[in-house]
Amino acid sequence: MTPLHFFLLLLLSSAALISAAAATTAYPSIPGTDSTTDCGLSGGDENPVPIRREVYGNGKIFDISHRYTVDMPSWESKDGVGQFLWLPKSMKNGSLANNSEMKLPTHTGTHLDAPGHVIDRYFDAGFDVDTLDLEVLNGPALLIDVPRDKNITAEVMESLKIPKGVRRVLFRTLNTDRRLMFKKEFDTSYVGFMKDGAEWLVKHTDIKFIGIDYLSVAAFDDLIPSHIVFLEGRDIILVEGLKLDDVQPGIYSVHCLPLRLLGAEGSPTRCILIK
Ligand SMILES: *[C@@H]1O[C@H](CO)[C@@H](O)[C@H](O)[C@H]1NC(C)=O
Ligand SMILES: *[C@@H]1O[C@H](CO)[C@@H](O)[C@H](O)[C@H]1NC(C)=O
Ligand SMILES: *[C@@H]1O[C@H](CO)[C@@H](O)[C@H](O)[C@H]1NC(C)=O
Repeated sequence: MTPLHFFLLLLLSSAALISAAAATTAYPSIPGTDSTTDCGLSGGDENPVPIRREVYGNGKIFDISHRYTVDMPSWESKDGVGQFLWLPKSMKNGSLANNSEMKLPTHTGTHLDAPGHVIDRYFDAGFDVDTLDLEVLNGPALLIDVPRDKNITAEVMESLKIPKGVRRVLFRTLNTDRRLMFKKEFDTSYVGFMKDGAEWLVKHTDIKFIGIDYLSVAAFDDLIPSHIVFLEGRDIILVEGLKLDDVQPGIYSVHCLPLRLLGAEGSPTRCILIK
Protein backbone atom coordinates (compact mmCIF):
# COMPACT_ATOMS: atom_id res chain seq x y z
CA MET A 1 0.00 0.00 0.00
CA THR A 2 1.01 3.64 0.16
CA PRO A 3 4.76 3.79 0.44
CA LEU A 4 5.05 6.32 3.23
CA HIS A 5 8.38 7.60 4.33
CA PHE A 6 9.99 4.37 5.11
CA PHE A 7 12.50 3.07 2.73
CA LEU A 8 14.41 -0.03 3.30
CA LEU A 9 18.09 -0.14 2.78
CA LEU A 10 19.51 -3.57 3.23
CA LEU A 11 23.06 -4.55 2.86
CA LEU A 12 22.62 -8.09 1.69
CA SER A 13 25.96 -9.07 3.01
CA SER A 14 27.79 -7.51 5.86
CA ALA A 15 31.31 -8.48 4.94
CA ALA A 16 33.47 -5.43 4.49
CA LEU A 17 35.25 -6.11 1.28
CA ILE A 18 37.56 -4.10 -0.82
CA SER A 19 36.05 -2.79 -3.98
CA ALA A 20 37.99 -1.49 -6.92
CA ALA A 21 35.23 0.93 -7.83
CA ALA A 22 32.01 1.90 -6.09
CA ALA A 23 29.92 1.18 -9.16
CA THR A 24 26.17 1.60 -8.99
CA THR A 25 25.32 -0.02 -12.26
CA ALA A 26 21.95 -1.59 -12.91
CA TYR A 27 21.73 -5.10 -11.63
CA PRO A 28 22.47 -7.54 -14.44
CA SER A 29 19.59 -9.50 -15.91
CA ILE A 30 18.61 -12.50 -13.87
CA PRO A 31 18.79 -15.88 -15.54
CA GLY A 32 15.61 -17.95 -15.39
CA THR A 33 13.11 -15.09 -14.93
CA ASP A 34 12.05 -15.25 -18.58
CA SER A 35 8.92 -17.38 -18.61
CA THR A 36 9.93 -18.86 -21.94
CA THR A 37 13.00 -20.47 -20.37
CA ASP A 38 12.71 -24.12 -19.61
CA CYS A 39 13.35 -23.96 -15.90
CA GLY A 40 13.56 -27.68 -15.39
CA LEU A 41 16.83 -28.07 -17.21
CA SER A 42 20.24 -27.67 -15.80
CA GLY A 43 23.13 -26.70 -18.03
CA GLY A 44 25.47 -29.26 -16.48
CA ASP A 45 28.39 -28.70 -14.12
CA GLU A 46 30.12 -26.21 -16.38
CA ASN A 47 27.16 -23.86 -16.85
CA PRO A 48 24.61 -24.60 -14.17
CA VAL A 49 21.21 -22.98 -14.73
CA PRO A 50 19.22 -21.93 -11.65
CA ILE A 51 15.77 -23.42 -11.26
CA ARG A 52 12.96 -21.01 -10.39
CA ARG A 53 9.75 -22.48 -9.10
CA GLU A 54 6.28 -21.61 -7.90
CA VAL A 55 5.56 -25.03 -6.39
CA TYR A 56 7.82 -27.22 -4.27
CA GLY A 57 7.72 -30.61 -2.64
CA ASN A 58 5.80 -32.48 -5.36
CA GLY A 59 2.87 -30.08 -5.34
CA LYS A 60 2.68 -29.63 -1.57
CA ILE A 61 4.23 -26.21 -1.10
CA PHE A 62 3.00 -23.16 -3.04
CA ASP A 63 5.00 -19.97 -3.13
CA ILE A 64 2.34 -17.25 -2.90
CA SER A 65 4.83 -14.37 -2.87
CA HIS A 66 5.67 -12.33 -5.93
CA ARG A 67 9.17 -12.00 -7.27
CA TYR A 68 10.59 -8.53 -6.81
CA THR A 69 11.26 -7.10 -10.26
CA VAL A 70 11.75 -3.59 -11.64
CA ASP A 71 8.45 -3.92 -13.51
CA MET A 72 6.23 -4.91 -10.62
CA PRO A 73 3.50 -2.41 -9.75
CA SER A 74 4.17 0.28 -7.19
CA TRP A 75 1.54 2.38 -5.42
CA GLU A 76 0.21 5.11 -7.74
CA SER A 77 3.13 4.71 -10.14
CA LYS A 78 2.87 4.32 -13.89
CA ASP A 79 6.38 3.01 -14.18
CA GLY A 80 6.51 0.19 -11.68
CA VAL A 81 9.00 -0.15 -8.85
CA GLY A 82 12.00 0.71 -11.00
CA GLN A 83 15.55 -0.10 -10.09
CA PHE A 84 15.78 -1.21 -6.50
CA LEU A 85 18.91 -3.34 -6.54
CA TRP A 86 22.49 -2.29 -7.05
CA LEU A 87 25.80 -4.06 -7.03
CA PRO A 88 28.28 -1.66 -5.46
CA LYS A 89 30.80 -4.43 -4.89
CA SER A 90 31.28 -6.74 -7.78
CA MET A 91 33.79 -9.43 -8.52
CA LYS A 92 33.95 -8.19 -12.09
CA ASN A 93 35.40 -4.99 -10.64
CA GLY A 94 37.88 -6.62 -8.34
CA SER A 95 35.92 -7.29 -5.15
CA LEU A 96 36.37 -10.58 -3.35
CA ALA A 97 32.62 -11.21 -3.54
CA ASN A 98 29.46 -9.68 -4.96
CA ASN A 99 27.51 -7.56 -2.50
CA SER A 100 24.17 -6.10 -3.52
CA GLU A 101 22.26 -3.28 -1.91
CA MET A 102 18.57 -2.61 -2.18
CA LYS A 103 16.21 0.24 -1.51
CA LEU A 104 12.46 -0.04 -1.85
CA PRO A 105 9.22 1.10 -0.23
CA THR A 106 8.30 -1.33 2.54
CA HIS A 107 4.81 -1.77 1.03
CA THR A 108 6.16 -3.24 -2.19
CA GLY A 109 5.13 -6.56 -3.71
CA THR A 110 3.95 -9.20 -1.26
CA HIS A 111 4.01 -7.31 2.02
CA LEU A 112 2.10 -6.74 5.22
CA ASP A 113 0.78 -3.79 7.17
CA ALA A 114 1.23 -3.05 10.86
CA PRO A 115 -1.26 -0.90 12.84
CA GLY A 116 0.96 2.19 12.53
CA HIS A 117 0.31 2.28 8.79
CA VAL A 118 -2.87 4.35 8.97
CA ILE A 119 -3.17 5.17 12.67
CA ASP A 120 -0.53 7.66 13.68
CA ARG A 121 -0.86 7.23 17.45
CA TYR A 122 -0.05 3.53 16.94
CA PHE A 123 2.91 4.49 14.80
CA ASP A 124 4.21 6.76 17.56
CA ALA A 125 3.56 4.08 20.16
CA GLY A 126 5.72 1.65 18.20
CA PHE A 127 3.21 -0.78 16.72
CA ASP A 128 5.58 -1.69 13.91
CA VAL A 129 6.04 -4.93 11.94
CA ASP A 130 8.31 -6.31 14.65
CA THR A 131 5.29 -6.38 17.00
CA LEU A 132 3.09 -8.52 14.72
CA ASP A 133 2.04 -11.92 16.05
CA LEU A 134 3.80 -14.78 14.27
CA GLU A 135 1.10 -17.12 15.51
CA VAL A 136 -1.47 -15.20 13.45
CA LEU A 137 0.89 -15.26 10.46
CA ASN A 138 1.38 -19.03 10.61
CA GLY A 139 -1.38 -21.62 10.78
CA PRO A 140 -4.47 -23.09 9.10
CA ALA A 141 -5.92 -20.83 6.42
CA LEU A 142 -8.79 -20.76 3.97
CA LEU A 143 -8.21 -19.73 0.37
CA ILE A 144 -11.55 -18.57 -0.99
CA ASP A 145 -12.80 -17.10 -4.28
CA VAL A 146 -14.97 -14.01 -4.01
CA PRO A 147 -17.60 -12.89 -6.57
CA ARG A 148 -15.90 -11.28 -9.54
CA ASP A 149 -18.43 -8.52 -10.16
CA LYS A 150 -18.21 -6.60 -6.90
CA ASN A 151 -15.85 -5.17 -4.36
CA ILE A 152 -15.93 -6.84 -0.96
CA THR A 153 -18.97 -5.35 0.70
CA ALA A 154 -20.91 -6.51 3.77
CA GLU A 155 -23.28 -8.32 1.43
CA VAL A 156 -20.40 -10.16 -0.24
CA MET A 157 -18.86 -11.06 3.12
CA GLU A 158 -22.15 -12.45 4.33
CA SER A 159 -22.60 -14.50 1.14
CA LEU A 160 -19.20 -16.15 1.61
CA LYS A 161 -20.46 -17.90 4.75
CA ILE A 162 -17.04 -18.19 6.33
CA PRO A 163 -17.54 -20.25 9.48
CA LYS A 164 -16.79 -18.86 12.91
CA GLY A 165 -13.44 -20.09 14.15
CA VAL A 166 -11.69 -19.51 10.80
CA ARG A 167 -8.87 -17.13 11.65
CA ARG A 168 -6.90 -16.82 8.42
CA VAL A 169 -8.47 -16.13 5.03
CA LEU A 170 -6.88 -15.43 1.67
CA PHE A 171 -9.38 -13.68 -0.55
CA ARG A 172 -8.86 -14.39 -4.23
CA THR A 173 -10.52 -11.79 -6.43
CA LEU A 174 -10.79 -10.47 -9.95
CA ASN A 175 -7.32 -9.01 -9.33
CA THR A 176 -5.83 -12.46 -9.88
CA ASP A 177 -7.83 -13.01 -13.10
CA ARG A 178 -6.71 -9.59 -14.34
CA ARG A 179 -3.09 -10.40 -13.41
CA LEU A 180 -2.80 -6.94 -11.86
CA MET A 181 0.31 -7.80 -9.83
CA PHE A 182 2.07 -8.62 -13.08
CA LYS A 183 1.24 -5.24 -14.62
CA LYS A 184 3.67 -2.39 -14.28
CA GLU A 185 1.12 0.39 -14.19
CA PHE A 186 -0.74 0.83 -10.91
CA ASP A 187 -4.47 0.27 -11.37
CA THR A 188 -6.95 1.96 -9.01
CA SER A 189 -9.82 -0.28 -10.19
CA TYR A 190 -8.53 -3.27 -8.22
CA VAL A 191 -10.94 -5.17 -5.97
CA GLY A 192 -10.71 -4.71 -2.22
CA PHE A 193 -12.78 -4.23 0.92
CA MET A 194 -15.34 -1.48 1.10
CA LYS A 195 -15.76 -0.01 4.59
CA ASP A 196 -18.99 -1.93 5.25
CA GLY A 197 -17.30 -5.18 4.21
CA ALA A 198 -14.45 -4.49 6.61
CA GLU A 199 -16.92 -3.72 9.42
CA TRP A 200 -18.85 -6.90 8.70
CA LEU A 201 -15.68 -8.97 8.90
CA VAL A 202 -14.61 -7.43 12.20
CA LYS A 203 -18.06 -7.79 13.74
CA HIS A 204 -19.15 -11.22 12.53
CA THR A 205 -16.02 -13.33 11.99
CA ASP A 206 -12.93 -14.48 13.88
CA ILE A 207 -10.60 -13.59 10.99
CA LYS A 208 -7.27 -12.12 12.12
CA PHE A 209 -5.21 -12.75 8.97
CA ILE A 210 -6.59 -11.09 5.85
CA GLY A 211 -4.78 -11.88 2.62
CA ILE A 212 -5.51 -10.31 -0.77
CA ASP A 213 -4.16 -10.40 -4.30
CA TYR A 214 -3.31 -6.74 -4.97
CA LEU A 215 -1.37 -4.04 -3.17
CA SER A 216 -4.17 -3.08 -0.77
CA VAL A 217 -6.90 -4.99 1.10
CA ALA A 218 -9.02 -1.85 0.88
CA ALA A 219 -10.71 -0.80 -2.36
CA PHE A 220 -9.25 2.46 -3.63
CA ASP A 221 -12.52 4.31 -2.98
CA ASP A 222 -12.52 3.29 0.70
CA LEU A 223 -8.79 3.18 1.13
CA ILE A 224 -8.24 4.73 4.52
CA PRO A 225 -11.64 3.94 6.14
CA SER A 226 -11.32 0.20 5.45
CA HIS A 227 -7.74 0.11 6.69
CA ILE A 228 -8.71 1.87 9.89
CA VAL A 229 -11.56 -0.55 10.55
CA PHE A 230 -9.13 -3.47 10.24
CA LEU A 231 -6.17 -2.01 12.07
CA GLU A 232 -7.68 -0.10 14.97
CA GLY A 233 -8.15 -3.24 17.08
CA ARG A 234 -4.43 -4.10 16.57
CA ASP A 235 -5.27 -7.80 16.31
CA ILE A 236 -5.73 -8.13 12.54
CA ILE A 237 -2.80 -8.47 10.16
CA LEU A 238 -3.16 -7.40 6.53
CA VAL A 239 -1.16 -9.36 3.98
CA GLU A 240 -1.22 -7.76 0.55
CA GLY A 241 0.07 -8.43 -2.92
CA LEU A 242 -0.28 -12.20 -2.65
CA LYS A 243 0.20 -14.43 -5.69
CA LEU A 244 -2.82 -16.72 -5.63
CA ASP A 245 -2.65 -17.94 -9.23
CA ASP A 246 -2.89 -21.67 -9.89
CA VAL A 247 -3.77 -22.72 -6.36
CA GLN A 248 -7.01 -24.55 -5.63
CA PRO A 249 -9.39 -22.94 -3.13
CA GLY A 250 -9.45 -24.80 0.17
CA ILE A 251 -7.68 -25.26 3.46
CA TYR A 252 -3.92 -24.93 3.75
CA SER A 253 -1.34 -24.04 6.28
CA VAL A 254 -0.15 -20.51 5.60
CA HIS A 255 3.28 -19.26 6.59
CA CYS A 256 4.36 -15.63 6.36
CA LEU A 257 7.55 -14.26 7.85
CA PRO A 258 8.12 -10.50 7.59
CA LEU A 259 11.42 -8.81 8.29
CA ARG A 260 11.96 -7.42 11.79
CA LEU A 261 12.11 -3.81 10.67
CA LEU A 262 12.06 -1.76 13.82
CA GLY A 263 9.94 1.36 13.35
CA ALA A 264 8.48 0.28 10.01
CA GLU A 265 4.71 0.06 9.49
CA GLY A 266 5.14 -2.34 6.59
CA SER A 267 7.47 -5.06 5.45
CA PRO A 268 8.02 -7.29 2.46
CA THR A 269 7.20 -10.86 3.41
CA ARG A 270 7.66 -14.30 1.96
CA CYS A 271 4.44 -16.29 2.18
CA ILE A 272 3.83 -19.92 1.36
CA LEU A 273 0.91 -22.30 1.51
CA ILE A 274 1.42 -25.92 2.51
CA LYS A 275 -1.16 -28.51 1.53
C1 LIG B 1 29.54 -12.38 -9.02
O1 LIG B 1 30.38 -13.46 -8.69
C2 LIG B 1 30.25 -14.59 -9.52
C3 LIG B 1 31.17 -15.66 -8.99
O2 LIG B 1 30.79 -16.00 -7.69
C4 LIG B 1 30.60 -14.20 -10.95
O3 LIG B 1 30.46 -15.32 -11.79
C5 LIG B 1 29.67 -13.11 -11.40
O4 LIG B 1 30.00 -12.69 -12.68
C6 LIG B 1 29.75 -11.94 -10.44
N1 LIG B 1 28.76 -10.97 -10.84
C7 LIG B 1 29.05 -9.71 -11.06
C8 LIG B 1 27.91 -8.88 -11.53
O5 LIG B 1 30.16 -9.25 -10.89
C1 LIG C 1 32.65 -1.78 -12.87
O1 LIG C 1 33.09 -0.43 -12.81
C2 LIG C 1 32.94 0.31 -14.01
C3 LIG C 1 33.56 1.66 -13.80
O2 LIG C 1 33.08 2.27 -12.62
C4 LIG C 1 31.47 0.36 -14.37
O3 LIG C 1 31.29 1.05 -15.59
C5 LIG C 1 30.94 -1.03 -14.50
O4 LIG C 1 29.56 -1.00 -14.78
C6 LIG C 1 31.17 -1.82 -13.21
N1 LIG C 1 30.71 -3.18 -13.37
C7 LIG C 1 30.01 -3.81 -12.43
C8 LIG C 1 29.56 -5.18 -12.75
O5 LIG C 1 29.75 -3.29 -11.37
C1 LIG D 1 -14.07 -1.90 -7.07
O1 LIG D 1 -13.88 -0.56 -6.68
C2 LIG D 1 -13.06 0.20 -7.53
C3 LIG D 1 -12.87 1.57 -6.91
O2 LIG D 1 -12.30 1.42 -5.62
C4 LIG D 1 -13.71 0.29 -8.90
O3 LIG D 1 -12.91 1.02 -9.78
C5 LIG D 1 -13.92 -1.11 -9.43
O4 LIG D 1 -14.61 -1.07 -10.65
C6 LIG D 1 -14.69 -1.96 -8.45
N1 LIG D 1 -14.67 -3.35 -8.92
C7 LIG D 1 -15.78 -4.09 -9.09
C8 LIG D 1 -15.59 -5.46 -9.63
O5 LIG D 1 -16.89 -3.66 -8.85
